[in-house]
Amino acid sequence: MIVVFGGNGQVGRELARAATQHAVPLAALSHGDVDIADEAAVATTLARLRPALVINAAAYTKVDLAETNIDEARRGNEIGPAVLAAACADAQLPLLHISTDYVFDGSKVGPYFETDPVCPLSVYGETKAAGEAAIRQALAQHVIMRTAWVYSEFGQNFLKTMLRLAATRDELRVVADQYGSPTSARTIAEAILRIGPRLWRGEDIWGTYHFTAEGITTWHGFASRVIAAAAPITGRRPRVIAIKTADYPTAARRPANSHLDCSLFARTFGFSAPHWAAEVDVTTRALVGAAPADLYPAKADHVA
Ligand SMILES: NC(=O)c1ccc[n+]([C@@H]2O[C@H](COP(=O)([O-])OP(=O)(O)OC[C@H]3O[C@@H](n4cnc5c(N)ncnc54)[C@H](OP(=O)(O)O)[C@@H]3O)[C@@H](O)[C@H]2O)c1
Repeated sequence: MIVVFGGNGQVGRELARAATQHAVPLAALSHGDVDIADEAAVATTLARLRPALVINAAAYTKVDLAETNIDEARRGNEIGPAVLAAACADAQLPLLHISTDYVFDGSKVGPYFETDPVCPLSVYGETKAAGEAAIRQALAQHVIMRTAWVYSEFGQNFLKTMLRLAATRDELRVVADQYGSPTSARTIAEAILRIGPRLWRGEDIWGTYHFTAEGITTWHGFASRVIAAAAPITGRRPRVIAIKTADYPTAARRPANSHLDCSLFARTFGFSAPHWAAEVDVTTRALVGAAPADLYPAKADHVA
């Protein structure tokens, strides 16, 4: 069986859904069930469930609030992963941990490789980078999977915010100078379940990998795609205005370039995610309740 910590988050819930579909035994534990920074609770859970693989989908993901809630961010992103890695080392279990593009500062021209040095701009990014380092130090049998711009039908995310704002506003002002790959939590979950058996069989594939949807866009491109996919169903077509990061001040600084090169993951595991635009359409339609017959054909003009 697989044990998932952070089972109530976007990726955690998609993992539970995918496991049910593929008849894979999986226990998804919420923050309320187990705090990953609680050594005794983690050890007891692993001893009780005796999993073949541990997945850490738990994290403190409130990027702006992390700038002031530093202790909470450290607990979820740094101490928790360290505790999980130590417990997995004691129990001789492999750990798959999810990390983020925000470990980079975004100043690179071109996509980031796994070998590029981290240089986070925010407390969220710093604590995530520290969590990665703690895992590498404590546990050889780990896979760190860095992803970016995650959305799903569950929880809070940019896609859902755009749909909510589109219901009442005629104009949306969205940042157009940060680049990344919107990635569906559903696809992340599918990828994890595909590679899972190679981890619990103990194949020598340990290390850090980048995994996002194909292609890149901006938050403005992402929003435009959401509105285009929803409009035929909702009838709402607010104008999406491109603005600069400087026009939308936030507590945390974000990388201008979040493009992650995912070829190592594809070469190693034989699996790549679909293009971001196709995945955004699927989730948008699911959220606005479209019947399959209402499917809106892909439009290339919003795709960066
Ligand atoms: N969201 C993104 O855009 C994004 C981008 C790149 C990478 N990632 C990474 O992808 C992974 C999954 O993210 P997600 O979007 O699924 O996050 P999410 O929806 O915010 O879910 C994270 C879950 O972790 C739980 N959690 C927080 N602190 C915890 C702790 N100390 N112990 C146990 N559980 C704790 C949260 O519970 P409560 O809400 O009850 O605290 C929440 O259910 C994370 O590693 C994240 O850093 C996310």
